[in-house]
Amino acid sequence: MTSLAKSFKFRAAFERFPQSSPLKRHQDKGGVILKGCNVKRAGLAISRTEERRLNMDLGLKGKVAIVTGAGRHIGRQIALTLAQEGARVVVNDYYEERAKEVAEEIEAAGGEAMGVRADVTNAEEVNELVKKVIDKYGRVDILVNNAGIMPMEAGAQPTGLLTFAEMDRKAWDDSFDVCMYGAMNCTREVIEGMINQKYGKILNILSDAGRVGEPRMTAYSAAKAGIGGFTKALAKEVGRYCINVNCVSLGATPSPSTEALIPTEQREERMKATLRVYPMGRGLERLGEPSDAANAVAFLVSDAAAWITGQILSVSGGYSMM
Ligand SMILES: NC(=O)c1ccc[n+]([C@@H]2O[C@H](COP(=O)([O-])OP(=O)(O)OC[C@H]3O[C@@H](n4cnc5c(N)ncnc54)[C@H](O)[C@@H]3O)[C@@H](O)[C@H]2O)c1
Repeated sequence: MTSLAKSFKFRAAFERFPQSSPLKRHQDKGGVILKGCNVKRAGLAISRTEERRLNMDLGLKGKVAIVTGAGRHIGRQIALTLAQEGARVVVNDYYEERAKEVAEEIEAAGGEAMGVRADVTNAEEVNELVKKVIDKYGRVDILVNNAGIMPMEAGAQPTGLLTFAEMDRKAWDDSFDVCMYGAMNCTREVIEGMINQKYGKILNILSDAGRVGEPRMTAYSAAKAGIGGFTKALAKEVGRYCINVNCVSLGATPSPSTEALIPTEQREERMKATLRVYPMGRGLERLGEPSDAANAVAFLVSDAAAWITGQILSVSGGYSMM
């Protein structure tokens, strides 16, 4: 079988698992489904384009990739996409069952993966995670620091996010612990190996909140901006070892859980208002989807992007342009 035919077989295998597709899960939870980019109807939704994938050989076959917080939504899609591109993927999540489920999904489709529970805020657990990866694969080529928490999970009310005046110190700490120190903990554990092997890709998931600032997301914006600075400084340190360090910065990427925070009767109105601030949202009539993030990540962690480092690429339909 030619490698092209194999690649198609692999892609077909991924598509044979509708029971595990994000669309199916979204539908099961009562979510709205749009029919692609030509929709005429607005509403918080995940469209079929979520499953659109890259169609180029990025040379990721056999690379060992760790994706943190990959048990659902954006991280899950990044893990699936890297696996589809041939990488051996370590699916990390705080929740073991989520990590295992995504790893099983990849393996069922013919890819190679292992699910490993670890809390990225805990340096010892991260050390154990990386040890397990080295024991099994002998190296780490790619680290995607995706784990992050939105402010609503860091103490805000379910129907609205807290202002800075309303936030307490714990809410700041939660944002910084996961979004910033979590990424630094994981990077610390893999960087020496990457330096020794003179090869590595570190990709941090940012939010445009960290680039332009979002009201009611002050600590989250600060933590994400911090990781942007970390990315650039580290890129300058480790370029000499052929290690690329970059960021993909996302805008609103609705998930069943973020939708659940908005009362059903307000969703259509909120969606229309949100779309207005996304230049591409107006045209495509949708917000970000996990595959938008995953496709950009797959490119940036490949050698097709070997000459790109220290960059923050906004993948947010033009929400921020800098
Ligand atoms: N969804 C959006 O609108 C949006 C927008 C901009 C940026 N982002 C960023 O994208 C990334 C993924 O977001 P998402 O929407 O998929 O989030 P999500 O909450 O749907 O999924 C995050 C996953 O990370 C895991 N996680 C949380 N804390 C962890 C920890 N300490 N250790 C290990 N795993 C942990 C969770 O269990 C969960 O499975 C985050 O960094 C987020 O800040 C998301």
